[in-house]
Amino acid sequence: MIVRRGSALCLREFRVSSSFKSSGRVSYELRGDIAVMTVSNAPVNALSLAIRQDLTACIKQFEEDDAAKAAVIVGEGKVFIAGADIREFKRPATEPHLPDVIDQIESCSKPVIAAIHGVALGGGLEVALGCHFRVGVPGAKVGLPEVHLGIIPGAGGTQRLPRLAGFEKALEMIPSGAPIGVEAAKTAGILDEVSEEADAVAAGLAFARSVIDNGTALRRSSEIAVPAVDPKVFADAKAAVTRRARGQRSPVACVEAIEIASQTSFADGMAKEREMFMELKTSAQHRALAHAFFSDRALSKLPEIEGIAARQLKSIGVIGGGTMGAGIATGALMNGLSVTLIERDDDALGRAKATIAKNTGGAVKKGKLSAEQEQRIFEEALVLSTDYASLSDVDLVVEAVFEDIEVKKQVFEKLDEVCKDGAVLATNTSYLDVNAIAAVTKRPQDVIGLHFFSPAHIMKLLEVVVADKTAPDVIATGFQLGKIMRKVAVRAGVCDGFIGNRILATYRAAADAIVVDASSPFEVDEVMLEFGFPMGPYAVSDLAGLDIGWATRKRKAPTRDPHERYFTFADRMCEQGWFGQKTGKGYYVYEEGARKGVPNPAVLEIVTEERKEKQINAKKLEKTQILARYMAAMVNEAAKVVEEGIALRPLDVDMTLIYGYGFPRWRGGPMQYADEVGLETILNNIKENAKEDAYFWQPAKLLEQLVATGRTFADLNAAQGNNSATKAHESA
Ligand code: CAA
Ligand code: NAI
Repeated sequence: MIVRRGSALCLREFRVSSSFKSSGRVSYELRGDIAVMTVSNAPVNALSLAIRQDLTACIKQFEEDDAAKAAVIVGEGKVFIAGADIREFKRPATEPHLPDVIDQIESCSKPVIAAIHGVALGGGLEVALGCHFRVGVPGAKVGLPEVHLGIIPGAGGTQRLPRLAGFEKALEMIPSGAPIGVEAAKTAGILDEVSEEADAVAAGLAFARSVIDNGTALRRSSEIAVPAVDPKVFADAKAAVTRRARGQRSPVACVEAIEIASQTSFADGMAKEREMFMELKTSAQHRALAHAFFSDRALSKLPEIEGIAARQLKSIGVIGGGTMGAGIATGALMNGLSVTLIERDDDALGRAKATIAKNTGGAVKKGKLSAEQEQRIFEEALVLSTDYASLSDVDLVVEAVFEDIEVKKQVFEKLDEVCKDGAVLATNTSYLDVNAIAAVTKRPQDVIGLHFFSPAHIMKLLEVVVADKTAPDVIATGFQLGKIMRKVAVRAGVCDGFIGNRILATYRAAADAIVVDASSPFEVDEVMLEFGFPMGPYAVSDLAGLDIGWATRKRKAPTRDPHERYFTFADRMCEQGWFGQKTGKGYYVYEEGARKGVPNPAVLEIVTEERKEKQINAKKLEKTQILARYMAAMVNEAAKVVEEGIALRPLDVDMTLIYGYGFPRWRGGPMQYADEVGLETILNNIKENAKEDAYFWQPAKLLEQLVATGRTFADLNAAQGNNSATKAHESA
């Protein structure tokens, strides 16, 4: 049935029944002699089963429709098509498969045009590549981001893109997953035209008209000969991505799939691509990366701020212009906020300004900030002052003075005096009690922790630390600040170290025990590098400065539990003035100005001395045992953090460790990793270690409950469609 535009039955919609619930539809509408097929599956027109079924039906309809001389495929809403429906990947693939739908489009005897607006990503771009022509509207982007989900394009992307754009472009776009704009896509040969029309339907109709009128021959990308290529480019590309991928399989697989296009026929290439895609789709790496994708989007979905508006955020104050204060000020200024920075004296202000200038200068060099923007920052947006009264009109203050509760309390008393009603008062403390800080003010409801990571203008993580009396709109404002500063904000509760530093303290303690009982800092670092961390824990300590941990240990010494094992090798290193990179010596020795060091052999002597004193007979641990013990400590503490409600859900822990501590994203974070390994295996490891050190290795109750009931951390995440941590614990 053909339906003319304007008639009462304007649209013919193909609704299909499917074996599982899947929304979405594709409509078929004849506009004169051009059929417009509109993919409609809010919010991003993902190619779920119903859409694939509808597309098949629409294409068949088009072939049989004598009144239709060309067809245009468009997407409804803000994008063309954002790719396959990732949620369906957990289930067995159901026909019609996307490659078959795309084959059907390409095999059409009449021209099919993709008219792209917003984004065409993954399977969405693959649909477009299967069309005979592609037109984009200004501002649109195209890309194949599958690599970030641990897979490769699975519907011809690796075979069609090199035919249209060449191997160099394919090797640039597919293993990186980075989308490109329409102009670049046109230059590369991916698009036939960048329309002047802002509206994709209008752009597609105009292009279709010219194809019909000019009798332009159909161009099937599968039939284009692959360009000649030197096989060395694949070897080079593989070497480069392997180095960067740190164990992630998909970037390498992307290169391999593109290489196949240079070696075999289109049909064979498609078969190989599909085989690789199906294999990766069931891999632990895909599960981990899909978990990270959805977790990213779940972080700010919190019942306590649902429907709550953030407070106004135009100007902020920063107290202290040291390492953190200057970094926070830089990040805020670079993202359009006005900043008033308070220091103790003019010299300190001068140093803070110089650090900010160094940071913005670096950003200008990297093209992240224009010279004009930098000028505006120093002429208009940044105010430097030693007078707290200058903060009388700011919307939010972040305190970043010394990590000393008495100093912080004094600062908050002053803030309480000078700040306007409704200003948010935040502390960047790493470990101190935000409730105690809030208690010195007359407005604890306005006080919150905003824990940035160093360097604060670069690191992605922001822990939003919610104290007992923090008001919901203050929490919403914390998340809003994160959004403005392009951070990944994670909600945390108050405890020593919040989510990240608390878990870090535990796995670092486990690492020290591994060193003294069995191994060396260098071997532990090597194991963690092989696991996928960018740096091992001891190289990280060298970078951060060993004096920081030393000061903390001294501070905590009076309250240390006598049952806790205490290791002295790090203190002895500090006593010698070895503070890591900044002194040229720590666990590693650094050549003048070098950021990578070589193992410091004297460390082993110090460790050996400690073993002798404590009469420890070091026994060799295999690398797998080192990893298992290190991860068991991390997961156990993480489970306690969830159990106590410090993290709302396991996914909050996972994202904290990924964005703040270098945990490999392709392993999904410690909780996702634990699910993959098996919670019982982790618990058994904890119990085994407890035989040697029962104080340290106390199993988390949550972990025991999950094992007893055969559940996983993923079950807890899923149980919190309502995001209620408490409910999940109760049911665990
Ligand atoms: N499948 C299922 N759901 C998806 C999805 C997809 N491909 N892409 C986005 N969504 C969901 C998100 O989870 C989110 O859901 P909630 O509202 O429930 O949280 C919603 O759509 C909106 O997404 P965003 O919050 O990310 O919206 P945005 O406007 O910030 O970004 C976007 C839109 C650029 C399209 C972004 O969502 C995105 O990059 N999506 C993923 C694209 C992708 O990876 N495509 C490849 C898929 S794999 C594939 O296609 C394989 C193949 O070869 C066949
Ligand atoms: P820092 O020592 O580099 O800077 C502190 C600054 O505060 C100094 O410049 C000092 O002059 C100033 N200051 C002290 N008292 C002041 C007062 N009353 N009024 C105004 N300015 C005052 O310290 P850093 O490293 O920047 O740490 C600051 C806070 O951030 C601490 O709470 C720390 O725990 C936290 N933090 C530090 C991280 C790091 O990696 N350095 C990471 C995350 C949080």
